[in-house]
Amino acid sequence: MNNTSIAGMKRTHMCGELRLEHAGQTVTVNGWVDRVRDNGGVLFLLLRDRAGIVQCTFDKSVNADLFDIAFTCRTEFVVAVKGKLVARDAAAVNKKMPTGEVEIIAEDIRILSKAETTPFEIDDNKEVGDQIRLKYRYLDLRRPSMQRNLMLRHRVTQVARNYFDEHGFLEIETPMLTKSTPEGARDYLVPSRVHPGKFYALPQSPQQYKQLLMLAGFDRYFQIARCFRDEDLRADRQPEFTQIDLEMSFLDEEQIQTIQEGFLKRVFKEVLDVDVQTPFLRMPWREAMDRFGSDKPDLRFGFELKDISDIVKGCGFGVFSSAIEAGGSVRLINVDGHAKDFPRKKIDKLGEFVKTYKAKGLAWTRLHEGSTTSSYAKFLTEEENKAILDRAGAKDGDLVLIVGDEKNTVVWAALGALRCEIAKQLGILDPKDFRFLWVTEFPMFEWSEEENRYMAMHHPFTAPMVEDEDKILTDKANCRARAYDIVLNGVELGGGSIRINTPEMQEKAFQALGISEEDIQERFGHLVNAFKFGAPPHGGLAYGLDRLVMLMTGASSIRDVIAFPKVQNASDLMMNCPDVVDQKQLDDLAIAVTRVEEVAAEEE
Ligand code: AMO
Repeated sequence: MNNTSIAGMKRTHMCGELRLEHAGQTVTVNGWVDRVRDNGGVLFLLLRDRAGIVQCTFDKSVNADLFDIAFTCRTEFVVAVKGKLVARDAAAVNKKMPTGEVEIIAEDIRILSKAETTPFEIDDNKEVGDQIRLKYRYLDLRRPSMQRNLMLRHRVTQVARNYFDEHGFLEIETPMLTKSTPEGARDYLVPSRVHPGKFYALPQSPQQYKQLLMLAGFDRYFQIARCFRDEDLRADRQPEFTQIDLEMSFLDEEQIQTIQEGFLKRVFKEVLDVDVQTPFLRMPWREAMDRFGSDKPDLRFGFELKDISDIVKGCGFGVFSSAIEAGGSVRLINVDGHAKDFPRKKIDKLGEFVKTYKAKGLAWTRLHEGSTTSSYAKFLTEEENKAILDRAGAKDGDLVLIVGDEKNTVVWAALGALRCEIAKQLGILDPKDFRFLWVTEFPMFEWSEEENRYMAMHHPFTAPMVEDEDKILTDKANCRARAYDIVLNGVELGGGSIRINTPEMQEKAFQALGISEEDIQERFGHLVNAFKFGAPPHGGLAYGLDRLVMLMTGASSIRDVIAFPKVQNASDLMMNCPDVVDQKQLDDLAIAVTRVEEVAAEEE
């Protein structure tokens, strides 16, 4: 039997931490074989652990037995190597490796575990399909980039814990088995064995608990909280994700935001050594929509929206005039200086792009090398055309893109997405340029086409702005909330609000949402009743930790910063779940599964 223990081969250093200053020491490293290179009698074995890679050298002419053992090693074998750390010859120094100035002249090696050929190479430079990466996630996680991402994530949570602790926040856990919290997504349900036919909901966020902790007098709370939402997945959305969740008593928006700016400043400095300027820009929601067509504007580039409804109202171009007559608007962006990058064909593609945001089309004027071409100019008067280009500030070399629609929301969404798409295509987005802003004064309600009613834009516990309190029942469209989002480079990093803290206002808010008296008691009685026993003014917010780490690492999806994420259809390819369960388990829970074939057929 081979010795696969580490007795006598206990680690003295991590592979990746060895430097010139350690030269002369006898060291022992443990790790995975990253590569083996045979240089005719001299074997280089590159050994990897989470700190990095170091070269171990075996010379046949010095110790043939040792060489022969090393020779049997394949990639991903787990081995221990002991030897003398020496400075490499000048010619052999590898500047690309942090350990490239040294090597271990091996004096002993032990194979701790062998490895079959892995389904893909553990190499950041090799393209590997997502399916296979996620099926063998533990191998994928061995890649240095994934190790770096998760180590950075760890740093972020440690800084969060330290910072919030220093600022008087208590870390308190809240239940996973709970009651539905209305954060706008579907719930994941957990059946109760003891109460057949009844279900817990996994929390979409700890919202109500953290408010109740304020009522309980804890003053400041935080939690690194797991949240569960059954919603369509995207690059920045997972069914199960993590929030840095916070709640504070006796503070207003300004004070809450200042504490958060301190946190973000600290975390960017300590983890990335990036200096973030505070205070951040604050922008009311309406201004963000009007200027950027988005409530999470990316401030790294211009191409701002401009409203031209006043110019084209009643004009001869039906697309524009009818949009305005129907209560909508016509707006443009000027992709200044980039007409050359968008020939006709590419503009047509942009037209297809805006259609995915429900726009009916894209009108354009291209000013290129002294000549002007336009998709709509012939329908307008000279004055109207001039006024549009003046409003756009257009000059030779520019491209003006226009969307009109009877719904403002469509114009905003289409142009908002278009300006980001164009910036992406132009390659002008620097992932290391961090532009924070607070978006404030969100509408209290938003109209849901699907439900045909007003819904809470943030959540129903958000307080209305003091000057809009009277509008909560009478003028919902214009009632603004004390809600704020923290936005970074076009991503909603976090969101929060000042909460309602009286039973009267909370009932009014539920009433405004069309929730019946009976339903209020049934679903939220615990909160409304709690407000009767002395509720401090309070507010808070939650960051999407995954999104924060995604932006800090430059990853393009939160999947790359979560150890074991789900794929698009919410399954875990490694664990192979969700999965069927034994009939006995279902019987215990009094659950009968129906529609399986039906749903499977729909999926096909
Ligand atoms: P909200 O619903 O805005 O607010 O969520 C807060 C932040 O959580 C992140 N986030 C997600 N990240 C990954 N996958 C998802 N599916 C997902 N959904 C949300 C976002 C978002 O900004 N209880 C309130 C907070 C509060 O009012 O204090 C809440 O959950 O970054």
